[in-house]
Amino acid sequence: MDQRRAGLLEAMALERYVLRGGPADSIIEPVMAPTVAVVAPLPTSTTNRSATATVRSVRPLAAPAPGAAAGLQPPPETADLDWVGLEAAVAGCRRCGLCEARTQTVFGVGDRAARWLIVGEAPGPDEERQGEPFVGRVGQLLNAMLQSIGHPRPTVYIANVLKCRPPSNQDPTPEQVRQCLPNLQRQIELVAPDLILCVGRVAAQNLLGVDTPLAQLRGKVHRFGAAELAVVVTYHPAYLLRSPSEKRKAWIDLQFALEVANGRRAAI
Ligand code: URA
Repeated sequence: MDQRRAGLLEAMALERYVLRGGPADSIIEPVMAPTVAVVAPLPTSTTNRSATATVRSVRPLAAPAPGAAAGLQPPPETADLDWVGLEAAVAGCRRCGLCEARTQTVFGVGDRAARWLIVGEAPGPDEERQGEPFVGRVGQLLNAMLQSIGHPRPTVYIANVLKCRPPSNQDPTPEQVRQCLPNLQRQIELVAPDLILCVGRVAAQNLLGVDTPLAQLRGKVHRFGAAELAVVVTYHPAYLLRSPSEKRKAWIDLQFALEVANGRRAAI
């Protein structure tokens, strides 16, 4: 393993495994489990955007979907908004009960022309206080994950499914998602990223409109919206803080996401 790669693993705080009986400094790198490899290399002349001959988990923006977000219809007023209008609409939103207790909304942060868009679940207390997604320890781990794959935080766009903090870290309700998801949809349309990285089950299930377990969503290229943007799913950094041994799997997911974003993998 070269020094750069070792540094990236360090940045993500992944454990190093020294081979017993092997060279003192040999490190076993995580390997993709064959059971989750459902993608094929792209022909070299094909870009990831055009590689949609066969797709999985396709859901047009306004189409009914099987999961929690079924029947989602972005209100026309949201669908047409530019960044200024969308930010103002979110700041003044009263479409669900979460507006009653919030101190401020958490819109999203980052490069509005980013190649990668990160989708989380909902702001927590730290995020509500600072008005920015993924701050505090969870945010620091997300930053390290992004840094480790060469897409540091300032180069990506980060947004949540919900823009208001649910009380006591409760999972978003279907109604809250139904009311709020159009805002994220519009953010995705405006950024038009090469890749959407969903962190955690709740973000992935609600964005894709499925109730598939996270383990089955990993290692696949899903597609979102009429533009069929590539979506890859990995663990939530809060979960990784609680279960550090799972970081190796997250590393595999991030390598997979890189390959998808760089057009080296596509859905079969
Ligand atoms: N968890 C999330 O999903 N989003 C945040 O912004 C913070 C924590």
